[in-house]
This record gives sequence, structure tokens and C-alpha cells, in this order.
Amino acid sequence: MPTPPHPQDPIVEVHDLVHTFGRDIRALDGVSLAFDAGMVYALLGPNGAGKTTLIRVLATLLRPDSGSAQVAGVDVLAHPTRARTRIGLAGQFAAVDDYLTGRENVRMIGRLYGLSGAEAKRRADDILEGIGLTDAASRAVKTYSGGMRRRLDLAASLVGRPQVLFLDEPTTGIDPRNRADLWTLIRQLVDDGTTVLLTTQYLEEADRLAERIGVIDHGRIISEGTSDELKDTLGGAMLELSVEPEHREAAQGLLRDALGDEPVLDPETERFRVTAPDGTRSLLVAIRALDAAGIEPDDVRLIKPTLDDVFLQLTDTDVQPEVAS
Ligand SMILES: Nc1ncnc2c1ncn2[C@@H]1O[C@H](COP(=O)(O)OP(=O)(O)OP(=O)(O)O)[C@@H](O)[C@H]1O
Ligand SMILES: [Mg+2]
Repeated sequence: MPTPPHPQDPIVEVHDLVHTFGRDIRALDGVSLAFDAGMVYALLGPNGAGKTTLIRVLATLLRPDSGSAQVAGVDVLAHPTRARTRIGLAGQFAAVDDYLTGRENVRMIGRLYGLSGAEAKRRADDILEGIGLTDAASRAVKTYSGGMRRRLDLAASLVGRPQVLFLDEPTTGIDPRNRADLWTLIRQLVDDGTTVLLTTQYLEEADRLAERIGVIDHGRIISEGTSDELKDTLGGAMLELSVEPEHREAAQGLLRDALGDEPVLDPETERFRVTAPDGTRSLLVAIRALDAAGIEPDDVRLIKPTLDDVFLQLTDTDVQPEVAS
């Protein structure tokens, strides 16, 4: 018998997972990660990074070559059947039947999870309402659009009240309004006690939804942390401001002394740009220094790197990160 999980143990804990397809595709090349219950963890990575492969291992659909994985206190490789009772997976467990209606599908899966007929009915209606499919619930699934199918998949993955929910690109192909609704729904699930591991290619999604983000590329986690921590890895913020032309020379010296970096005047925008190592504090220091000399800066901006910048830099694409304005 596996020992019950200690409340402080991470709810998902993965050590050195390796999985190879064929001879030389190392889809997982030593993945380790761990996170606590009650959060959204986003796995962010480009096409072919290994996201789906990792999700399939954790959801007991694929046996890795080596490594270990615990989910909700269960060793998924040693006890896959037990693990399956604690997890939900959007898209895969939900063997959605095209000829049944949306409601019938969700109810049926509820029954498979051992709910009574009345319970399955109530829960199906609640979930379909929450996911915005009430109007379409009585229609056969074969009449659904791609986005509606995805939402039905998600609905089906929730019936069993999983402790941990795996969502592989839950909002890909979903229009912006429905995406925002899904985000709300996912946050509600987390508030109700479900832990979510999702994969995404949308940086905004990871930024908005996830407490922690793991960036995966070529089967390896190449960076990990909160969205702010990841942004910090790019180096700090930049300060931009303009001053009247007659004050430029003085301002340049004052900014250099205050921030310890040489301000650069952009000839096009006629604005100074200088690194702001302490973010908002640097901004205050700079403004005070200028103010003390009777210089009033205009159009002051503190520019922080975005998650896009981090992602592009980490995943080693040809695109140079730009400082967003
Ligand atoms: N069944 C398979 N047979 C052979 N190679 C596979 C198989 N599944 C995945 N791969 C390969 O493993 C690597 C990782 O694929 P995976 O599907 O995990 O990437 P992903 O991060 O989910 O990508 P995407 O963002 O495109 O969904 C890729 O090189 C892919 O071609
Ligand atoms: Mg994938």
C-alpha cells in the first residue's frame, strides 16, 4: 500500500523523466518538476517541446523509459489505476460520443465515475452551465463546432471531481470571449480545491492563470518560477523619459549618477533610455535627482520585460526580444 500523502508534499512531483520515441526522438530528456496543491501550474513551450508527452505520462497513458512521477500521493507508474481515480484529463478520458447530446455525454461519464443517476444529472447540468454549453446541451455532439467540442471535453473531465486536472492546451482554437470564460472557470475550479496543470502556447494565458510557470523546450525544463521571477531573469526594467532640449546634457549626467548607467538618447523619439535596476525605486531616485536640479521630465515610463520576451529568449528562437512599450 502506498503511504498517504503528507499535506505538505507537492501534489505533482516528477523526477528525471526520460521518454524516447523510436531511436532518436528524446521527447522527454530528464524532466523534473514539483508543485503544491491549490494552484495552476503552466507548462509553456513551443511545438514539439514535450508538453503532451509529459501530460500523457502523468495521466498514465504513456509509460516513460525512466524516471518517476507522483500525482496526489500516488506513484503513477506503480499504481496507474489508483492514480486515474484522482486525475482528470481534458480531451482523452472524455471519449465523447458524436451521436449523443452534450448532456448525455457528460451524464454518462458521471455514471462511469460512480455517481448516481440523479447526481450525474445535477452535476452535468451544473458543469454545462458553468462552461456555457447549456443552450447546446440537448444537441448531438456531431453538430458542435471545434470550440464547443473542446469545452465539452473539459466538462467531461470535471465530472469525476478530480484532485488534479491536466489540461493540454485547453484554449487553443477557442475565440477570445470563450477563452476568457474558460479562464474564469479554471480559476473557479482551483478555488474549489482542484489543482490544475495546463500546457499552453499563449503567454498571456500562463501570465494570467498560473501561479508558477515551467518553460519546456527539447524535452527539458529550461526555466521555472512565477511569471515575475521569469521576467526578472531577463534583467531589470528600463526607464524612459524626455526632457526639454536645453536640459538634456544636465539630465544625462544626473541620471548617470543616480542610476549608475549611461542614459542613451534615442534620436528618433528624443527620449532617454536607461536601465532601472530597482524598478519603481530607480524611477523615484531618477525623478528626485532631476527635480532637485529643477528639471521636470516628461512622458516618464518604466518598461518591464514581458513574458513574450522571456519565452523568446529562453527558447532560443531567431527573433530578438524587443522591449515592449
Ligand atoms: N507517438 C509519437 N511517435 C513519435 N514521435 C512522437 C510521438 N509523439 C510525440 N512525438 C515527438 O516527441 C516530441 C515531443 O512531442 P509532444 O507532442 O510532446 O510536443 P508538444 O510540446 O506537445 O508540442 P505541441 O505544442 O505541438 O502540441 C516531438 O518531437 C514529437 O514529434
Ligand atoms: Mg502537444
